[in-house]
Amino acid sequence: MPTSDALAPLRLFCRLVFGSGAGLCGLALAAPPSEIPVGSPLGIGQHASASQIASWDIDIAPDGRNLPPGSGSVAQGLEIYRSQCAGCHGADGKGGVGERLVGGQGTLATANPIKTVGSYWPYATTLFDYIRRAMPMNAPQSLSADQVYAVSAYVLYLNGLVPQDAVLSAATLPEIRMPNRDGFSGDPRPDVVDQACMSACGK
Ligand code: HEC
Repeated sequence: MPTSDALAPLRLFCRLVFGSGAGLCGLALAAPPSEIPVGSPLGIGQHASASQIASWDIDIAPDGRNLPPGSGSVAQGLEIYRSQCAGCHGADGKGGVGERLVGGQGTLATANPIKTVGSYWPYATTLFDYIRRAMPMNAPQSLSADQVYAVSAYVLYLNGLVPQDAVLSAATLPEIRMPNRDGFSGDPRPDVVDQACMSACGK
């Protein structure tokens, strides 16, 4: 029985015309081309390995789940911030080509709300997640876990949310209470509840 793809045109014809095949069509349809691997209907892609999944699975839950081992201090964060962040976010975190990271607390309900990590973000753990995956913008995912803990500590220190001698880790980061923790409400979608009517409908 031929196994090359020479029968591809015939197979296509049989599928289009008969949906399946009998006789010659049956023969053609029973002979998939040999290069399509078993269990891979389209013959493309590959199974993700456990190590590939682990390298992508870096999101941190608000409660700190999935935070890596390591730690970093405000003092260490100051050094990292000066060399790798200040160029875009300003020497004091008040912004530049990058967002403002500091201040704005107490402004959210005013006519000119200033949304920063310190005033707006509900969880400090999100800061770790964001910096680790996206910053510095010119070299994302280049910082070690220790460096991300440290620079997160420094940004939180600039916002007055941790003391100057703070050391952040998987144990201490989730304990920080952000000022706007209770400023968010749940997403009400779907806001129109479509419940099936079972009796006396429309009466
Ligand atoms: C090349 C410029 C650049 C560098 C360097 C840089 N950032 Fe950013 N950063 C940005 C820009 C631009 C944004 C806004 C991105 C967006 O909104 O999509 C941003 C956003 C952020 C945010 C989110 C702010 C918010 O309220 O949404 C944080 C936190 C942050 N950066 C931290 C850092 C830290 C920490 C470093 C150093 C390790 C760093 N950035 C280095 C340009 C930079």
